[in-house]
Amino acid sequence: MKRFGLLLGAVLIAACGSDSGPPSLSSVLIAGDSTVGLNGTMQLTARAFAGSAPVTTGLTFVWMSSDTTKARVSQTGLVTGVRLGVVIITVSAVPDVGTPVTSDPYVIRTRITRIVFRPFDISLASRNDTVILVADARDAQGASVTGIGFTWVSRDPGIVTVADSGSHAAIVAAVGYGTTQVVATVDRVSDSVTASVEQVPATVSTVPSSFSTLTAFGRSVQATCIAVTASGDTIPNHLCNWSVLSAGVVAVNPATAHTTTVTAVGNGTASIQAQAAAGVVTSKPVTVNQVPKTVVISPANFGTPDVTMTTNQSAPFFAAVLDSLDHPALEDSVVWTSSDSTRASPAATATLDSTVITTFAVAGAATITATAGPASATRVVNVSATPISFATDVQSIFNTSTPPCTNCHPSAAGMNLTTGSSYASIVNQNASEVPAMKRVRPFMPDSSYLVHTIQGTQTTVGGTGARMPLGCSGSGCLPNASINLIRNWILQGALQN
Ligand code: HEC
Repeated sequence: MKRFGLLLGAVLIAACGSDSGPPSLSSVLIAGDSTVGLNGTMQLTARAFAGSAPVTTGLTFVWMSSDTTKARVSQTGLVTGVRLGVVIITVSAVPDVGTPVTSDPYVIRTRITRIVFRPFDISLASRNDTVILVADARDAQGASVTGIGFTWVSRDPGIVTVADSGSHAAIVAAVGYGTTQVVATVDRVSDSVTASVEQVPATVSTVPSSFSTLTAFGRSVQATCIAVTASGDTIPNHLCNWSVLSAGVVAVNPATAHTTTVTAVGNGTASIQAQAAAGVVTSKPVTVNQVPKTVVISPANFGTPDVTMTTNQSAPFFAAVLDSLDHPALEDSVVWTSSDSTRASPAATATLDSTVITTFAVAGAATITATAGPASATRVVNVSATPISFATDVQSIFNTSTPPCTNCHPSAAGMNLTTGSSYASIVNQNASEVPAMKRVRPFMPDSSYLVHTIQGTQTTVGGTGARMPLGCSGSGCLPNASINLIRNWILQGALQN
């Protein structure tokens, strides 16, 4: 073993001995960053050259800082930032044999490492809104660095302005709407926060500011919500949530809109609410009160303004009160009057929309008026001493129409209109096509299905069949005089006379 070791040593010496001696150094270069974080470190490296050939052995690097109170450098080239400022680092390459060479000055700046903002980003609710932005310079250890001044810049002074307020703080003020950045610079380090100015509703109102009464179901009015920011700026086309606090009076549609439609559905007063944002709400009362537009009296007339009753009889009269959109106006009471109470007179105690008209011994005409609010209708009642005869007047229509009813109606629709059988087949008999209706209901021509079939109004009461005589039209149908004769016979009580 020992012999072998000696032999190896002899070989190494022989190798060195063949060298022509250490090369003389000509330059030394520093590589690395140009800054170091305060209280942080940064590695520099040095390379020595003989001409253009790197020299890596047989030398020692000696590092130096121009101001060790600002940055120190270790003999391995590790720089430590001690205080903000600039130092010059140099390194000397000292060969084991020969002349040392020193690098060019290498400038290193000790700086802060980052800026921390509070708040992290800025959201302003309206113009003139302000917020205090605090910036904190930190060293490499994350500790605050005090005693240095910040400068502040708004990237869009039309959206926010920024003014230094000392102590690492600035006042950011909204002057417009949109999003931009606020930049803080300290010790040549810059960072920014996003600043946005929104249009947050602070108050809301409606247009119109008050609603006039809706006078018919289905009548509607447009309502627009106006949302305003704390600075008094109207937010264009702001969407509100609309709701109705008491149901059954109005409906709002759409429920989320700048402008919605308020539609009357029932009488009463309801509150309409427009919500522009959480807690930003206005409510307005809306009243629906149907105004009667039309009064329709039953018994109706068919081509003539009058009906004919007999002396000393009674029959029910009805009034349908409609609003301007033809919806029944249920809450309006009807007042019945007669132009001549010696002939025909309404009952003293009329119910909401019906009365009983009673005639007296005096023949002649009286005009019955039904009044509901601003609307009214009249029906002339002729009082006749001679009642219409079923056997002669009505039956002859059944027998002589074109074609005669009796042609088909010994049996068609299960109804017999032939002499002797007809009365029993129609009066108080359920209609085949509309079983809820009688073919003839005494005193009530408008509730008699037979009347609707000869008027051609059968489909308005749920019937499906054709007008009678079967499928007639124009002059092929019964003349109005015949239709009114049958109506008045029913109004007189559908007597079997
Ligand atoms: C050409 C045959 C024909 C003539 C004429 C005719 N009808 Fe009819 N009628 C029918 C038929 C068929 C039905 C059932 C189908 C329909 O209603 O279309 C009917 C149904 C009816 C109904 C419905 C009965 C129920 O209970 O549903 C009445 C009421 C009626 N006719 C009355 C008359 C009167 C009144 C006349 C004469 C003015 C007349 N008809 C003339 C064939 C006729």
